[in-house]
This record gives sequence, C-alpha cells and structure tokens, in this order.
Amino acid sequence: MLEGRTDAGSLRSGDAGREVKLYGWVQSRRDHGGVIFVDLRDRSGLAQVVFNPDMGEAGFADAEKLRSEYVIAVTGRARLRPAGSENPKMATGEVEIVAAALTVFSRAKTPPFYIEDGADADESIRLKYRYLDLRRPEMQSAFRLRHRVTQIMRRYLDEAGFWEIETPILGKSTPEGARDYLVPSRVNAGAFYALPQSPQLFKQLLMVSGMEKYYQIARCFRDEDLRADRQPEFTQLDLEMSFVDAEDVMGAAEGLIRLILSDVTGREPAPLPRLTYREAMERFGTDKPDTRFGMELVDIADIARGCGFKVFADMAARGGLVKGIRAKGFAGAPRRELDELTDFVARYGAKGLAYRVITPEERKSPILKFFTEDEIRAVVSRLEGEAGDVLFFCADKPSVVYQALGQLRLEIARRRDLILPGRLECLWVTEFPLLEYDEEEKRFVAIHHPFTAPLDEDIPLLETDPAAARSKAYDLVLNGMELGGGSIRIHSGETQARLFELLGFTPERARENFGFLLEAFAYGVPPHGGVAFGLDRLIMILAGRGSIRDVIAFPKTQSASCLMTQAPDAVTAAQLRELHIRV
Ligand code: AMO
Ligand code: AMP
Repeated sequence: MLEGRTDAGSLRSGDAGREVKLYGWVQSRRDHGGVIFVDLRDRSGLAQVVFNPDMGEAGFADAEKLRSEYVIAVTGRARLRPAGSENPKMATGEVEIVAAALTVFSRAKTPPFYIEDGADADESIRLKYRYLDLRRPEMQSAFRLRHRVTQIMRRYLDEAGFWEIETPILGKSTPEGARDYLVPSRVNAGAFYALPQSPQLFKQLLMVSGMEKYYQIARCFRDEDLRADRQPEFTQLDLEMSFVDAEDVMGAAEGLIRLILSDVTGREPAPLPRLTYREAMERFGTDKPDTRFGMELVDIADIARGCGFKVFADMAARGGLVKGIRAKGFAGAPRRELDELTDFVARYGAKGLAYRVITPEERKSPILKFFTEDEIRAVVSRLEGEAGDVLFFCADKPSVVYQALGQLRLEIARRRDLILPGRLECLWVTEFPLLEYDEEEKRFVAIHHPFTAPLDEDIPLLETDPAAARSKAYDLVLNGMELGGGSIRIHSGETQARLFELLGFTPERARENFGFLLEAFAYGVPPHGGVAFGLDRLIMILAGRGSIRDVIAFPKTQSASCLMTQAPDAVTAAQLRELHIRV
C-alpha cells in the first residue's frame, strides 16, 4: 500500500506536475461551494488537497463528508497554487494537490482539543488523550529529536567500542538512594523484586565479567516526589568502563555530549568547563550552577568582621559566611519586590536579606547604616556595584547562605529575564565530598553511592576527618540542571570495607545487601568507573520544553498515575491471593 507514498510536508514548487499519493489525517476541511480544501497531515507536515467534482461524483461526495482527524489516502497531481493564493506560513504553501481519488480508512470523533501547536488544552486532558496530544507537530518534533539523539549515542558508543547489554528489570531491593518500586513474587510467597533505580550494580558486575565497555539506554524506576524534571520511570544513558580513571570516563562522555550539542545547534561547542564542587558552591551556592548569567556570590566576611552590624560581625567571627550578590540594574525595583525577595530567601532558612540600592543619590538600605563610609565603599567595590544596581547580602551558616543566595540569584534571573533563550551552558562539577553526616540517622551517608572511590590523596582522611574526604565523582550540569553523574568505583576490598564501616553497615548487613557484588569482587575486579545521563532531561532542554513529560511518550502525573490507562489500578482478589497479598 505504501508503494509510491509521498511525505505531505516534503512538497515544494519543484514537485508541480508530479503524481503523488498522500496518506494521513484531515487537519481541516474548508468547503468553498463546489470546491473542497483539505489540509492533510502526516508526521512530515501539512499539504493542501483540492477536491472538485471533476474527480467523479462518488469521490467528491466522500470528500464532502470528511471531518477533522479522518484518516485518508489521496492520489492526485501536484500543481502550483494560483497566483495570490500561496501560503507563506506553510512549508508546502506554494503547491496543492488536485485530488483524483480518495480513500477513507477511518472516521473520527471530534477530538477534545485542536490538534495544533501551542494547544492551550489542560494538561490532564492532553494526558488522558495522549495519543491525540502526540499528533501535534511540536510533540512529534520532540520525539524526532529524541530518536535522533539516541541514534547519535548508539553510533558514537559503538564506534568507541562499547557493547550494548541489557540488565534485569526484576531485581533485588538494596538500601541507599530513593524508595523502590516493589513487585511481589507469586512463586516465592512474601518475597519481592525491586525495579532498578539504575543498572548500577549489574554494570559493575559486567566489568567483573570482563566486558570492558558497556552501555545501555536503560529504564530506571524511583519512587520519589515528582517535579517538572523528575518522573517515576525515566531513561538513562548508562555506561561503564574498565581500566580507566575519571579522565577517561569524562572524556568519553564529553565527546558524546559535544557531538550531540553540535548536531542540534549546528555549532561546535567549546571543551566543557570544569568546576570543583567547592568552587561551584562558593561562586554559585549550588553544585549545579547555571552559568548562562553572572551574578556570582562574593565573600565579604573580612569586611563584615569588624563592622557595626552585629549579625554580620558575629557570623563572620564565628566562621559563618557573609556573602553578597550584585543585581545589575535592579535599583528600580519597588520596595514591595525587595520585601518579596526577603520572604523568598526565608524559605531557605535565611533570617534576613540585607540589601543596598545604589542610586546616584546613594539611597541607604536598612542595615548599612551600621557600616562606616569606608566599609560601604569596600563592599561596593568588592561586588563591582554601580549606580542602578542592588547589592544583596546574607549572613548565616554556609548551607543557608549557599541556598538562599544561590536561589535568589536564579529568582532574580527569572524575574528580569536574564537568560537568553536557546543558550546551552554545559559544565562538569568534580571533587564532590565522599560522605555527608546525617544528623537524624547519626551516621555518614554516601553522597553518590557506597561504591564511589575517594580521591587517592584523601584516603587517609577516612581515618581522621571523613567528612573532608573528596571523591572521584563527577556530575555533568546543563543550564543549571543535573544532567548526569558518575564516578570511579572502589576496587580495593580494604577501602570498601572501611567505607561500609563509616556508612554504618555491619559486615553482616553489607553482605546481606551487596553480598553478590562483594563476592564477585573477590574473583578479580578491574579498576572501573562510569556515568549515567538522564536522557529525558537532556531532550527536554534540547527541545526547549519546560517539563520532561513533554518528551516522554506516555508520562505519569504528579501523583505517579497514568490518566490514559488509569494505572495504578486495583486488581482482582484472585490476583492478590495468588501473590499472597492482603490489602
Ligand atoms: P544518578 O542517580 O545521578 O546516577 O542518575 C543519573 C541521572 O539520571 C537522571 N535522573 C532522573 N531523570 C528523571 N527523573 C528522575 N526521577 C531521575 N533521577 C535521576 C538525572 C541524573 O543525573 N548509577 C548512577 C550513575 C553512575 O554512577 O554511573 C546513577 O544512577 O539526569
Ligand atoms: P533586624 O536588625 O533584624 O531588623 O535586621 C535589619 C536588616 O538586616 C533587615 O533588612 C534584615 O533582613 C537584615 N538581616 C537580618 N539578619 C540577616 C542575616 N543573617 N543576613 C542578611 N541580612 C540580615
């Protein structure tokens, strides 16, 4: 049937005179008394078809009955549109098809929303009728991009010697990380599989197996609170390599990312900048800095130490942080907005937000009256403030200052549209801390995961000051979002045992949870490491969409349900009995 098919969206003036066969959906039908115009849509685009009675009575009668979303085939001859009736807004706007024959494959109910870009239908309606939503050109173009990017990934990794290997979906529940999705076992009463949060343990086992270079476009499942950039099931490009150090893994990953960026933007991206975790925190207040605009955090503790404002002086003296940011040209902001920003930083625990508005007549801000003229001059010059700017300051313990000013920086950028559309800023963050002390659980927890190797020079710190030890972990950040993360893994039994001890695992519990991995490592484990990228997040950014739901064919809602299929749903009593489950 498809023999001789033409893509509707491909027709151009050069096709005039050609006999074509189009298959697709009726986008719209306009009846001009005696002549019927139909815009036919397939995934390549739209083309205008003209039906007139010359085609024969039966065919024309069928054309009169066409409605939106009917599925049809049209055979006819392409011709230039009559002068003056070209449509410059349509890629195919110079031509039209004069229909000779029409086949109607199926009729359609009136859809609940127009199938067109920028549809303002409620997202819940779009999700309920997702198959209609996906007919919209902007959705199709996101999936074309997604396909293209995964093909680039596969080609690149194949050429670099990686093997694509699948790992199990029904796995074992292991601690650390997010909550698991569990699947009851029918044949093993009371036992459960867990869906993988990532292929992490299996890919390390593949290294023990001697596969050397593995990758997988892997589905992962995490039962966590959902946001615009999080879904309960999502896709990673996951890879692992043997006999490598961090440079090798980052090099392979960076080569791929730059290839994708250059393909999508048509420009050759520069080598990705690198920041250490510490630098990222100090300059941007976050480990995923958005470097599409400036407004970096600036330390003024040394100036604040001797100043007359007690909050600042005390904080500086007690080793807390006093930092500021410069909001260029913000001086016109009304007092109300400055108060809103004070409330905004309070959400991150900040006890206040001091500011100084720099106007030509040097309007004073509430706290800077406690500063001497010299101190004010020093602060303004440290932040490179100019007339028209507002300088914001926060004094607190580091975690609060980083969050408050880091978020304030993003909020001001949002409010003043400081981010140019289409910009892509990608960078590495390295030297993450290995461990973090959990005050509630009274133990260390792994920042990345328990198999991440410490930096060689920091191994002695595991005995003296574990919190200060840095790891061989790295994250890839794109436009202020965590796009990927990975690490070099521990291959020394001794280091792994020490780490489990710090993480509060008894040898028994470590064996219970990760026994198969530890056992495997006892049979000869190569040095290895890897990385995983969030594929959905990457496509979301490249496609310029605000939610990863827009680049997942059948996503879940905020409450992890599917509005189209009604999953999750109740099951029969018989199914539950078989699974040994009472609800
Ligand atoms: P990590 O947990 O950092 O690392 O995950 C890697 C990347 O996966 C994406 N991601 C998500 N995307 C959408 N929805 C989610 N709920 C979600 N959670 C994570 C992010 C993230 O950067 N096994 C390790 C990698 C390794 O060490 O090799 C891992 O899974 O973009
Ligand atoms: P107060 O003395 O509490 O009335 O505060 C005077 C000004 O200092 C107000 O504008 C507060 O928002 C600000 N402020 C108070 N505590 C802090 C802090 N820890 N960091 C930054 N500004 C603060």
